[in-house]
This record gives sequence, structure tokens and C-alpha cells, in this order.
Amino acid sequence: MKPNVLVLGPKMPGIIDLVSEFANPVAHWDHGDLDACQAAAGGPFRGVLATGESRVTRAFQAELPELEIIGCFGVGYDGIDVEAALERGIAVTNTPGVLTEDVADLAVGLMITVRRNMVQADRYIRDGRWEREGPMPLAGRVQGKKVGLVGLGRIGLAIARRLEAFNCTIAYHKRTRLTDSAYPYVENLVELASASDILVVSTPGGRTTEGMIDRSVLRALGPEGTLVNIARGSVVDEQALIETLKSGELGSAALDVFRDEPRVPDALKRLPNVVLTPHIGSATSETRHAMRDLVLENLRNHFDGKPLVTPVPEMG
Ligand code: 8YV
Repeated sequence: MKPNVLVLGPKMPGIIDLVSEFANPVAHWDHGDLDACQAAAGGPFRGVLATGESRVTRAFQAELPELEIIGCFGVGYDGIDVEAALERGIAVTNTPGVLTEDVADLAVGLMITVRRNMVQADRYIRDGRWEREGPMPLAGRVQGKKVGLVGLGRIGLAIARRLEAFNCTIAYHKRTRLTDSAYPYVENLVELASASDILVVSTPGGRTTEGMIDRSVLRALGPEGTLVNIARGSVVDEQALIETLKSGELGSAALDVFRDEPRVPDALKRLPNVVLTPHIGSATSETRHAMRDLVLENLRNHFDGKPLVTPVPEMG
């Protein structure tokens, strides 16, 4: 008998057929609630396929008495209560590595887009302003700027590698200093922000980083400074971000992630010094296919009794 797997996401073409190769999948989006899903499965769920946005709380897990594994389609698993899972011996896997380069590309792309006013530049031509008004106002550089990296994991390092080609000076902040990094470590985040022209957030979400980019950090980054966030909306105090952008205490921001996705505060949408993208860091077909293959390999291995490919770090 194939194991029942509850599919919370990703809602991508062919996913159900692929899970069917080794399990009996039930798509949450076809049934609406968990009771209806359990009824459709005709037996308890032994696996959950989730995304980086899924909420797999302790209470949710408690509804699934036979649960053995949660496979997360995403590197970030802050929506999954890993502690609750571990207490019950439920395995959790994620998809590190395969999305690193695309997320780093987006971070650098966002940085250039916002500093060089590329969105406004595009609109400038479409609105006929180039012909009517002549050249646009001058923008700010990325080249040679001081960049503070908040988080220096795989993605942070991939961003740093790209920025070296831009002759940027790089420093980083992280909960624990790396023993083998060539980049200077700055223990105090406000200090890093005040020494940086651009601050890039690539740290994990969750309790430990909740609101760490607060008003004092944004003020320290300053009127010429740029915040880039490709991590999680929860890391930034969104209200303070809106207020400092409005008042000019912070220069600009480029954001791929938000606190209440897919809802983005209207106040952010109205600000001219902001570039917004709808959580597309890993959203290329190449990367999403690699993420899909990795999360399915983890689930399949589990049910075949083979070692997991990418268990989350807490699981050793
Ligand atoms: C995706 C992500 O948004 O990997 C992550 O942590 O946030 C993304 O890759 C997501 O998991 C896909 O639904």
C-alpha cells in the first residue's frame, strides 16, 4: 500500500502525478480543509509536502497522528514547527543549494534596479517623458559601494561573490561569527548598517530573526542607504520601514518578501523609492524543477527506508 501524502504545495503542473509514483497524494487545494483531505485519503497521512510559505504548526501536526515526514519545497522552513516535529520523531527536509544562485541573482538584480531607478526609467520612456522632458534625474551607484550582508549562509556568500565583481566592500553580521570567512564580521547590526550603503538581508526567518531590521537599523542605514530583502518579511519591521522610507530617513528599498504575503501594504506600493517583487527569488523553471526533484527524492527515500538527502540542519 502506498503511503498517504498530504500535498499543501507546490501547486505546480504535474506535481500530483509525480508524487503518485511512490505515494497516494491528496491535494489540499482540492478539498479545502484537513478533515476533507483525511476523508479523501481513506487513511492517515504519513507524509506532508509543504512549501516555504506553508504553516505546519504544532496544532496542525497534532491532527496527523501517523505523520513521519514533512518535505519542504524551499530552503526556508520557518513556517514548519520543527521542534514539534522532532519531539515526535517526524523528519523534516528542505531544498538547500539548488536555489542559491537564482536567489543571489535576484538580490543583486534588485539592488541595481532600485539604485539605478530602472523601474522608473522604463516608465519614463513608456510615458513619453524622455521625448517631452529630456534625460531623467541621475541615480545612485552600486559599483564600489559598501555592502552589509545580514546572514552569510549559502545565499549570502553567493551574493558576496557577485558583489566582488562590482568592486563592493563587503562586511557581514550573523548570530555567530564564521571562523573561516574572509569578510569582516560586525557584531552590532546598527554598526554594520551605519557603515553600509546597502544592507542585504539573507538570514533565515523565524523567531530568532523576527523584526531584527528595526527602526534603529533603518535609520543607521540612512537617507542614502538601500535595504534589500530576499529572505523573509518577518525579519524586517515593515511599519518602521514604511515610515523611514516616507520620511526620507531611509533612502530606498527593494523587497521580494513581505510579512503577510501575498498582501503588500498599500503604503509600500505608493512609495516611489521602493522596488517590489512577489517572492520570486527561486522562481525560475530550472530552479523550481530542481527544488521539486529534491523534495520528492527526500520523500521517496524516506518511504523506501533510504537516507534523507537534505534533512534540516537541526536534524544533524
Ligand atoms: C519559495 C523560499 O518561495 O526557498 C525558500 O525559502 O522562500 C522559496 O524558494 C517557496 O518555498 C516556494 O513556494
